[in-house]
Amino acid sequence: MNLPELTQHFQKLFDDYPRIFRAPGRVNLIGEHTDYNDGFVMPAAVGFSTYVAIAGSPDRKLVIHSEEFPGKFEFGLDNLPQQRTGSWCDYALGVAIMLQESGLKIRGANLLVHSEVPIGAGLSSSAAVEVASALALMSLGELQLPLPEVAKLCQRAENNFVGARVGIMDQFVSCLGKAGQALLLDCRSLDFKLVPIPSGIRLVVCNTMVKHDLATGAYNTRRKECEEGVRYFAKWDSTIRALRDVSPEMLDEHAHDLPPKIEKRCSHVVRENQRTLDAARALTDGDLVQVGKLMRESHQSLRDLYEVSCRELDVMVDAAEGLPGFCGGRMTGGGFGGCTVNLVREEHAGNFAKQITERYSQATGIKAQVYLCTAEAGAGELS
Ligand code: GLA
Repeated sequence: MNLPELTQHFQKLFDDYPRIFRAPGRVNLIGEHTDYNDGFVMPAAVGFSTYVAIAGSPDRKLVIHSEEFPGKFEFGLDNLPQQRTGSWCDYALGVAIMLQESGLKIRGANLLVHSEVPIGAGLSSSAAVEVASALALMSLGELQLPLPEVAKLCQRAENNFVGARVGIMDQFVSCLGKAGQALLLDCRSLDFKLVPIPSGIRLVVCNTMVKHDLATGAYNTRRKECEEGVRYFAKWDSTIRALRDVSPEMLDEHAHDLPPKIEKRCSHVVRENQRTLDAARALTDGDLVQVGKLMRESHQSLRDLYEVSCRELDVMVDAAEGLPGFCGGRMTGGGFGGCTVNLVREEHAGNFAKQITERYSQATGIKAQVYLCTAEAGAGELS
């Protein structure tokens, strides 16, 4: 659906003319499962977006509708549900509830959601719905939050209403992404640096077509395991508040004092933080060999220590090795399925896509989807 079509569809449904807000999905280049440990991540917003068309309505109702997803949802603004409904509309609804909880008055509104971000592919389709809905709902009121606050509010919606204990990465980059740049984000202070993606490099995203679902237990279990790790380290050093505070030396010193599983999880997070800082430096210097090496190490660590990869992701990562123009690749996002991200020289990107699809299909019998992406700007209103 293009935008005039979205507008027309909105007019047909609600007999009104909408404003339209867009928020992108993302790929994460490196820094995986570090955000909720107060660590470092380096994502980029990509060209897939969610669009929310909105117009105010005179009654105190929130009506949420979508082309792609089933159902037309209607809620009274004065008694919004306290518990998730279990449907896709929870992402927009959760945001409305968090806006109200933070004292922002929202008006009655009709919303039409149109999402192009592949669902369950680890490209942050949920964050895109949340951020676009937040900007849309805020546009009807007086108060505007700064974008980092919007990101935090959307994260709260997902944590407290939807029930997935995600970190801040996806919402943050969906809000603040910049064309041609990755963001090196410090998830504790929310300070960030733009890291230019060298010209001539494409972000080639390969979808294993194995769906992942963050709301199911494994993601939240990993968070608990990290928290358990923090409790151990805090006994040895009371200044430790998160795995971010644990140095590689401290990790080595106490490796044998931790239960083996917790040691593996902590080891991934502590070293992944260092890899992310190193990769940002290498990318800035245009040292793609080093970036590739760090991405490979990141994948191995996610596979062997954090245990969030799966056979299909491993096959897809291996399938990239040796292809012309390939600089580095790894799984991206929460894991258990979804996509890999690959840095590929532009002139080879088309051929890379063809060959990796063939290799993957031979090994798994699954037809992958491959997206040739560039880093794009974050969320905003369309004029
Ligand atoms: C999901 C979450 C993010 C982050 C990644 C793993 O995408 O939404 O907050 O934790 O997993 O790096």
